[in-house]
Amino acid sequence: LTDDSKKTEIDEQLEEIKIAFTYGEIIGIPTETVYGLAADARNAEAISKIFSAKGRPGDNPLIIHIHNIKQLEDFTAVLDKRVIKLMEAFWPGPISFILPLKGDYLSSNAVAELDSVAVRMPSHPVGRRILQYADMPLAAPSANISGKPSPTNARHVIDDLENKLYGVVDSESAIYGIESTVLDCTQYPYRIARPGAVTKEELEEVLEADIDTVSGETDKPISPGMKYKHYAPGQPLIVIEGGINNNTKLPVERHQKVGIIAPETSREFIGEDIQFISLCRDRDSYKEAARNLYSALRIMDASDVDIIFIHGFDKVPESAGLMNRIYKATGNEVIQGE
Ligand code: TXA
Ligand code: MG
Repeated sequence: LTDDSKKTEIDEQLEEIKIAFTYGEIIGIPTETVYGLAADARNAEAISKIFSAKGRPGDNPLIIHIHNIKQLEDFTAVLDKRVIKLMEAFWPGPISFILPLKGDYLSSNAVAELDSVAVRMPSHPVGRRILQYADMPLAAPSANISGKPSPTNARHVIDDLENKLYGVVDSESAIYGIESTVLDCTQYPYRIARPGAVTKEELEEVLEADIDTVSGETDKPISPGMKYKHYAPGQPLIVIEGGINNNTKLPVERHQKVGIIAPETSREFIGEDIQFISLCRDRDSYKEAARNLYSALRIMDASDVDIIFIHGFDKVPESAGLMNRIYKATGNEVIQGE
């Protein structure tokens, strides 16, 4: 028996993926937040393939994915103890840290020529296996065409990028469904540049110190991605603050076909002529809602409805990431539920 004949099918697939990355290919990979479009972060040509496949502006930097904190020694300066404490608490998991960049190990186009770099260690078992086997830093933005919602399953990736990538690793749907929390650690106090599954409160508890939040409107955007128009469906999308009840009057014209995205518990208030997508069980099911949000928006966008309404969840720490994505998609258009 040669070593080769002992290889399992999975090993063969991992080997193929590694070779493809080595040759500068781009591949859709699952992570626990959303699917990523990955390439070797040291290979400038591979990185430019990512930007052109997505139609992404070159000044919007990518997140670098790793499987082992030791990899950071290649491209970041010595880490502050406080950052290490946060990494130990939340990695592997749905949070990216913006750190000072060191040297030219990473391709400069991956970080959009900045002197900082966003890094994440995903927890998705398949994504992690790929990172471990490939054993290289993988730059991976969300695997959607710029201007579409991030993909939460392999089908979404194919719908957006078929023919533009080497392949997609098919796995179960992403469990969080919205992109990672991004924490800017290049200055103190640290700042949340993008809310996500890891909340400000959870970070503050581990850090035992306050964390700032960057507000897109008042501060100068620190995350280049913040200045770009975010995903919005083709139809008007409006948040119903407080959700739908018996007294809710939807501002629709008679000929308009209406779509509503809301918790299952809202169904009883919704007429039969309305296209309803159930986002989650009830109004407190924030995690389930985040998991299903992008898929629901894709379905509505592709449907024949003229106007879409979406449930506005209560503003609690656990709903911050979810409501951030909902407001971005609606462009802050809201009505009151009652
Ligand atoms: O959950 C996620 O983070 C997913 C999965 C695939 O890991 N990735 C993701 O990547 O959402 P992307 O490229 O769609 O979003 C990255 C965000 C952008 O808003 C970008 O501007 C910001 O992170 N970013 C990256 N590097 C940065 C840096 N050095 N300074 C400031 N912002 C940075
Ligand atoms: Mg993205």
